[in-house]
Amino acid sequence: MSIENAYDLLQRSIVYFHGEPLGTAASCDTAPSSNNYQECFVRDFVPVALVFLIQGSPAIVRNFLTTVMKLRGRRPILEAHVCSSGLMPASFRVQIDNGEEVLVPDFGERAIGRVVPVDSAMWWLFLLRAYVIATEDWELVTDKELQACIRQILDLYLSDRFECTPTLLVPDGSFMIDRRMGVYGYPLEIQALYYSTLFTAHELLQHTGAEESLLSTLEIRTEALRAYVQHHYWIDRDRLNEIYRYKTEQYGLNVANILNIYPESIPDWMDGWLDLRSGYLVGNQGPGQVDFRFFAQGNLLAILFGLATEEEASGIMNLYELHWDELIGEIPAKICYPAASGEQWLFLTGGDPKNMAWSYHNGGNWPVLIWPFVGAAKYAGRQDLAQRALELLTARIEHDNWPEYYDGKQGGLIGRRANLYQTWSAAGFIVAQEIMRSPEYCNFFECVTFKHSLKDALKIKHATENSRNKYE
Ligand code: GLC
Repeated sequence: MSIENAYDLLQRSIVYFHGEPLGTAASCDTAPSSNNYQECFVRDFVPVALVFLIQGSPAIVRNFLTTVMKLRGRRPILEAHVCSSGLMPASFRVQIDNGEEVLVPDFGERAIGRVVPVDSAMWWLFLLRAYVIATEDWELVTDKELQACIRQILDLYLSDRFECTPTLLVPDGSFMIDRRMGVYGYPLEIQALYYSTLFTAHELLQHTGAEESLLSTLEIRTEALRAYVQHHYWIDRDRLNEIYRYKTEQYGLNVANILNIYPESIPDWMDGWLDLRSGYLVGNQGPGQVDFRFFAQGNLLAILFGLATEEEASGIMNLYELHWDELIGEIPAKICYPAASGEQWLFLTGGDPKNMAWSYHNGGNWPVLIWPFVGAAKYAGRQDLAQRALELLTARIEHDNWPEYYDGKQGGLIGRRANLYQTWSAAGFIVAQEIMRSPEYCNFFECVTFKHSLKDALKIKHATENSRNKYE
């Protein structure tokens, strides 16, 4: 049975420190494609943590949260850059030094391409909220160091640099897509996570009596970000028509094409791609730049967090239905569509053979995306699509030994350099099954309005207890 096998994999992947469980290895493959897959990655642990919370075993999640909090800001000084205290590592490992176990974080200084993980602190806050929703452990949130930690994260993520938009400017590969893929600038996934971060910080700080000025800053930025993403990232037929007929080089305050997007930048593949019912949030928006590629994680998180409107959520799900073979194919779900090939691949990836067209980040299919897909489909009332996707995954994933990703236009091949026994592939599968059974688990994600109180979401606790009984 797939589900038991998935639980076994999670159990095997647990990382212990001084006998305490505090995370999971990214993969249990005995020959992983790179040795940092034995480390505990912050973003990879998120779906695993959701499983532990649903199961009613929050201790490992608490240990993880406090461990990562203590590791924050501990990057060695790099070429004169002092590490901000709000920066959290991409991963950490347990190492033996002089017979003693020590924790060694990686902020990207060891990672391929030296990428800084902008998403880590954002996933950490997301998980903190989910943990509180499941446990009501407010003692942890009121802890002095944790309060300081949230403020340091905000110092870093709210600090003014050179931007004049509410979105966050980041380097290439600073999130799940952690290699060069032409995703620098204002990638959608980061903006969706940023929205959840601002919302969560506001919610947690409000409940622990933070100063009005900080709460108001968070409120203003969250609203501005939401309005900006909904306006500038959303594309449907009407919006495409607007861009197609845009006037350019407009100067002044009251102009339509404020980012100076040239209609000539609409790629050929967009012709006929959207019908009248579908739409999506584009991958990136910047001055003179729209990345029209469809990035699954950003779109799905935008639905889950409530950053996309209800109509947009329906439009995105209609797009999945319309282009099921391309966006889901044989294994849910395609990470990005379409793949870049030829000159474009060379230019965007720097000639990265792991990111060849229809492989890995460049159009590969990632089983872990099943949990945001099922959550988003449920949210949008598309139980049918959630079911269809989950059936596809169930038919293959255990037989294929839980690959990290699949290759091919429709995801028909196990990824050429994919690890097997990838922990978040198994965790994503369990979380998706759980959401199918108990839609209340969507409370873990949804950032509804500023009036949304945690109390409403605490229904989850009872659901957690029921679910725990199921597995005892
Ligand atoms: C790859 C993925 C990244 C993931 C890591 C560990 O680098 O791109 O998103 O966190 O593997 O699984």
